[in-house]
Amino acid sequence: MNWMERPNRPEPGARLCALGDIPDCGALEVQFGDGSENFRVLLLRRGERVWTYLNFCPHFSLPLNYQPQTFLVLDDAVVCAHHTAFFNLSDGRCTDGPCVGNSLTALPHHRVGDEIRFGAAPAVSP
Ligand code: FES
Repeated sequence: MNWMERPNRPEPGARLCALGDIPDCGALEVQFGDGSENFRVLLLRRGERVWTYLNFCPHFSLPLNYQPQTFLVLDDAVVCAHHTAFFNLSDGRCTDGPCVGNSLTALPHHRVGDEIRFGAAPAVSP
């Protein structure tokens, strides 16, 4: 799925959250827009490391969670609540479950101090 074609995607540089808003060894969802067309960003954290994906399971095109802000995050995987697909934190690839070989859609992010922002880091002038 090309995330750039989805409605309600945030502008580059939009604030997603502070690092401390994401539970360590856990997840946080930040949504942009309302209803079924909202853009759902899933942030996963291990210490200082953060990965961002579209919260959209490639199996049945559903969010990975049933309940708001409730995600099953294991040592190195996040698990879809619907049919137990396991996705690597580091690259979003499904390693077990009904959609092995498919992947979550990685989203770009960058840090500004303690903030996590959407999009690639702005280029720095030499
Ligand atoms: S919808 Fe995620 S595993 Fe089926």
